[in-house]
Amino acid sequence: MKQKIPEQLLNRFSDLISEKLGLCYAKDRWHHLIRHIRLAANDFGYGDVEMFLQRLLSAPLTQNDVSLLANHLTVGETYFFRHKNSFEALEKSILNDLITARKGKDQRLRIWVAGCATGEEPYSIAILIDKLIRDIRDWDITILATDINQNFLKKASEGLYRKWSFRGTPKWIINKYFKLTHENKYAISPQIKEMVVFSPLNLKEDAYPSILNNTNAMDIIFCRNVFIYFNDALIREILHKFYRSLVENGWLVVSPVEGLQCRIHEFLPVNCFGETFYKKEIAAKCYDPVNRYVDEVVYPMRKREDVYGQVFDEAARLQNVSHKKADEVLPERKQDTDEKTLTLYEKALKAFERGLYKEATDILLKLYSSMPDDRKESQVKRDAIMYLLAKSYANEGKIEDALEWCNNAIKTDKLQPNYYYLRATILHEQKNIDGAIASLKQVLYLDPNFVLAHYALGNFAQEQQKLNESSKHYENALMLLKNHKPEDVLPESEGITAGRLKEIIRIYSKCNTHPVSLRCHPSF
Ligand SMILES: C[S@@+](CC[C@H](N)C(=O)[O-])C[C@H]1O[C@@H](n2cnc3c(N)ncnc32)[C@H](O)[C@@H]1O
Repeated sequence: MKQKIPEQLLNRFSDLISEKLGLCYAKDRWHHLIRHIRLAANDFGYGDVEMFLQRLLSAPLTQNDVSLLANHLTVGETYFFRHKNSFEALEKSILNDLITARKGKDQRLRIWVAGCATGEEPYSIAILIDKLIRDIRDWDITILATDINQNFLKKASEGLYRKWSFRGTPKWIINKYFKLTHENKYAISPQIKEMVVFSPLNLKEDAYPSILNNTNAMDIIFCRNVFIYFNDALIREILHKFYRSLVENGWLVVSPVEGLQCRIHEFLPVNCFGETFYKKEIAAKCYDPVNRYVDEVVYPMRKREDVYGQVFDEAARLQNVSHKKADEVLPERKQDTDEKTLTLYEKALKAFERGLYKEATDILLKLYSSMPDDRKESQVKRDAIMYLLAKSYANEGKIEDALEWCNNAIKTDKLQPNYYYLRATILHEQKNIDGAIASLKQVLYLDPNFVLAHYALGNFAQEQQKLNESSKHYENALMLLKNHKPEDVLPESEGITAGRLKEIIRIYSKCNTHPVSLRCHPSF
C-alpha cells in the first residue's frame, strides 16, 4: 500500500517549490504533486517519501536539488507551430516589419523563448525566420531558448522528434526541414538547429536581463503556456523583468489565455490580425493604475495619442509620471550645480533600472555634453556617465555605441576593473574572443579577486579546449566564492548570487565537451 503523506508536509513542500521554481500547486492538484514527488523520491534514492520531503525541507536546497525537482515537477506539453494563428499573425505583422525595417541596414534579430520545453517552439520560430529571410547567412540572428528543466533542454538540443510533435504542422514544413531517421524519428535540419541556443534559466530565481546570460536587448520574447503555473505576484515580477529585457518597441508574446495579466502591466496590447501581442512602449508605462483594462490598439498602429490620449493623462496624474521627453525635462541652459547633475544622473539610473534605455541614454548624453571638462569635483564623474551610457546602449542592442562609450570610460579612468569587464562582455558579443580575453586579463590585473573574470576566463579556456587552464580559473573562482555568503549578489553580475555561480561552475566545469561561453549559462 502507498504511504500517505501528511498534509502539513505537503503544504510546506508546495510552498518550497513555489519559492524556488515558481510552480503553484493548489490543493486540487495535489494528487499530481504526490505522484511526481514519489517519482522524484525514487530518483533522489529515497524509498521513504516522508523522509525525502523532510530532507528537502530541513536545509536550503542546492542547485542540484532544484534541477532534479524541476525535472520531475514541470510539464513540457508542446508541439511545432502551436497556436497556429499566432504564428500567422507574427509573420504578417511584427516579424515582417522588423525584417523590412532592418534589411540592408542593421541585419540582426534577437529573440528569446522563455520556457521552451523540448524545443518545438524555438525551432518553429527559426523555421519561420528562415522562410522570411532569403539571405539569412548575412543576418545576425539570435534565438535564445531557455527552460528550467534540463532533461527537456537535452532533448531539445538533440533535435529529434516523434510524429506527435507535429500535430497540425503543414506537410511542406516537415518535408523541407526534417529528415526521417531509421528509428522513425524526425531530425531537424542542421541549418535550423544551429540557429537556436539552448540554455538553462529559472524564471523565478535567475537574473535577467543580463548581458552575462544574453537575456538583454531582445526584440521579441516568447513566454507561452508558462505563466499558467505561476501566481499573480510572480507573473508581475517576471513581466517587469521581461520589459527590461526588451529593446524599446520590443514585443512580448504570450499564449491567448495568458494575456490578461499583461494588460494590467506596462505593456501595450496590440491586436495584430486577430491575435494580441504586447508592445514595450515608453508611454505604455502609463497603464491604467486601477487595473481597468485598456482597449487594444489595432495593428497597423494608429498614433498612440488618438487611441489613448485620455487614459494616459489620467494615469499620469495618478502615478505622477511625467510624459515630458528627456530634452524637455533637461534645462535649456547649462545648470552646472552638482545637485542638478546628480538628480539627472539618478533619473537616468532610474530609467535604466526600469528598462527605459532610450530615455536613459537621452538623459545621459545631454548630461554628458552639459558637463564642462574641468569638472573634477563633481559628485557624478564623467566616466560614471560614460559607463552607464555603455550599459544602456548594450541593453538597447546598440553594441558599437556601447563599445565606444565603454572605451571612453576606460580612457577617462583606467583603474576601474568593472569597465574592462563590461568591455569584455561587449567584445564577446561582437565575437572578438581574443579582445574579450585580453580585457578580462586587465580586470584581474586591477582586481585579482574579481570572481566573474576568473569564471569567464575559465569558460573561454574550456571553449578552446585548454582544460588545465580552465580548471585553474574555475578553482580560483570557487576559492574566491568561499568569501561570499550564498545569497550575496556578485558585483557586476546583474543579480547572480554567489551560491548560484558556485553551482553553475560545479556543474559545467565537469562537462568539458560542452561549448561554453562568457555567459553565465553555457549553452548545451
Ligand atoms: C507547457 S510548457 C510550454 C512550452 C512552450 N512554451 C509552448 O508554449 O509550447 C511549460 C514550460 O515552462 C517551463 N517552466 C516551468 N517553470 C519554469 C521556471 N521557473 N523557469 C523556467 N521555465 C519554467 C517548464 O519546464 C516547461 O518546459
